[in-house]
Amino acid sequence: MCGIVGYIGKNNALPILMDGLKRLEYRGYDSAGVAVKTDQGVFAVKAVGKIVELEKKITPLTPPLSGGSNLGIAHTRWATHGAPSEVNAHPHCDCQRKIWLAHNGIIENYQELKALLIKKGHKFVSETDTEVVAHLLEDLYDGNLTNTLIKALRLLKGAYGLVIFHAAEPTKLLAAKCGSPLVIGLTEDGTIVASDVSAIIRYTKQVIYLDDNEVAEISGHDFKIYNLQSETVAKQAKTIDWDIEASEKAGFPHFMLKEIFDQPNSLANSLRGRIILSDGKVKLGGLDIVAEKVRAIEKLVIAACGTARHAGLIGEYMIEEYAGLSTEVDYASEFRYRQPVLDKKTALLVISQSGETADTLAAVQEAKGKGLLTLGIVNVVGSSIARATDAGVYNHIGPEISVASTKAFTSQAAILALLTVMLGRQRQMSLVMGERICRELLALPEKMREILKTSEQIKKIAEKYSKFAHFAYLGRKYNQPLAFEGALKLKEISYLHAEGFASGEMKHGPIAMIDGNFPVVMIAPQDSVYEKNYSNMQELKARGAKIIAITTAGNEKIKEAADDVIYIPKTLEMLTPILAAMPLQLFAYHLAALSGRDVDKPRNLAKSVTVE
Ligand code: F6R
Repeated sequence: MCGIVGYIGKNNALPILMDGLKRLEYRGYDSAGVAVKTDQGVFAVKAVGKIVELEKKITPLTPPLSGGSNLGIAHTRWATHGAPSEVNAHPHCDCQRKIWLAHNGIIENYQELKALLIKKGHKFVSETDTEVVAHLLEDLYDGNLTNTLIKALRLLKGAYGLVIFHAAEPTKLLAAKCGSPLVIGLTEDGTIVASDVSAIIRYTKQVIYLDDNEVAEISGHDFKIYNLQSETVAKQAKTIDWDIEASEKAGFPHFMLKEIFDQPNSLANSLRGRIILSDGKVKLGGLDIVAEKVRAIEKLVIAACGTARHAGLIGEYMIEEYAGLSTEVDYASEFRYRQPVLDKKTALLVISQSGETADTLAAVQEAKGKGLLTLGIVNVVGSSIARATDAGVYNHIGPEISVASTKAFTSQAAILALLTVMLGRQRQMSLVMGERICRELLALPEKMREILKTSEQIKKIAEKYSKFAHFAYLGRKYNQPLAFEGALKLKEISYLHAEGFASGEMKHGPIAMIDGNFPVVMIAPQDSVYEKNYSNMQELKARGAKIIAITTAGNEKIKEAADDVIYIPKTLEMLTPILAAMPLQLFAYHLAALSGRDVDKPRNLAKSVTVE
């Protein structure tokens, strides 16, 4: 999730672009860059790190910038393809350095296009997927950038928000959207295009939201919008009623809620370009170089911390059931103290959102010291764990800002499902089963949207339970790890006592605690263990417990045992935790927000735990 901003108008573009970048910095900031059209040609500069590093490289009072500029684009990068570096930073340009563009998203077919363009003599300088668009435009250019762009977009697969200009057409700024957000801000003196309104709101509240497969041709304060059939599209401006602070959070009161609501998109981004449905296979590019080694492993050990470890536990169930590969999960913080018995046929898989967790990194080093293949599921490109592992899969969900992990968790579980298909298809999994898992995965974002509609209902349930001090979370089989995750979410942001248990463990001790003051959150979708969970609910009910149940849509009978019910759409049993996680996140969020907690920055916690 990068941030892009473009400006064309009567004012000097550079200060507007730099201010916009700072406002978009929360979207990710491993590097940044800006390109403006000046009287002396295009001035472009890039830097690794935060926007201040870019600022240090710009001297606005000396030529070519002293003459000002009325047209420019800028970008703050969150790496997806290629390490954070100056060459990989945007804006990118064509061979003649005339067409400049900034991109947010992933071009899925960039490798095919790149190979084709290289054959035609184009010279690429970066490792990014984005650069291919600049060369493609150069290749197709017919003297009119708008027509050329529409032709080029028809050839692209994937997601993009693009802002583009051509030095030979300096009265035109183009924007195009498919999958990644873009908004156009209309001011008296010019037009700003950005990834979100936070870069615009200081200048105007009049905006136009571009829809997928639309191209905006902007010249000063005039604009035309086209679809990919080159037909003009009529659009109405909207008035935003947020202030600057709320705009970064897209109007949500907290980043955590924004990130919970982001999950249909973030999950789709994690899956994008990775599923070959007709073959019942997945394509995890980051694992290509170790595919044969992965085929030969006989055991997988997963090590991670906190929420990432809970995702790992779900992965253990998936991989053992569907890929038939022996898998065990460790606390990364215990991995090297436990003296695990490992041989060369074992691989270590670590899972880390930040890629910087010291305990997880230590587990990688321990495994490497023993000669094991090390793999990672990591969100932050170029992070220490991403670099230390032999190969891995990135989450592609953009930065997670709230300390409590939400969208990373669902993405980690989805990537573990992809990995299950990869491992399974290398072993005994049939094409039909591979295809079924993939199809169900692709259906998840829409189902997540359904769950988000229950947020207000969950808020009311949270209000009802807001005076209780202890909560138990129960689940079985695939949803047993989710009981731990639900409890962790609640304790870390509300500071309440919450414990997760395997449903079947209750009668071995913990049920002694249960009475009317100890509500139980029961994760009980209608799966292969539903009847057992239902019996557990009745046992709890008999002890006076208040029960909040999460179950499959349409299950009315559960109301006989549960006090409150939250429904999730039906999916494959192994994928239910990805959906059931969302009501748990919303319940924890609403309860903590109602109690006035500092939801995004809970006390005593840090987003990245770089000490052991
Ligand atoms: C909980 C949470 C933590 C992290 C853990 C690992 O909401 O965020 O439990 O999951 O600290 O962090 P990463 O994934 O960055 O290694």
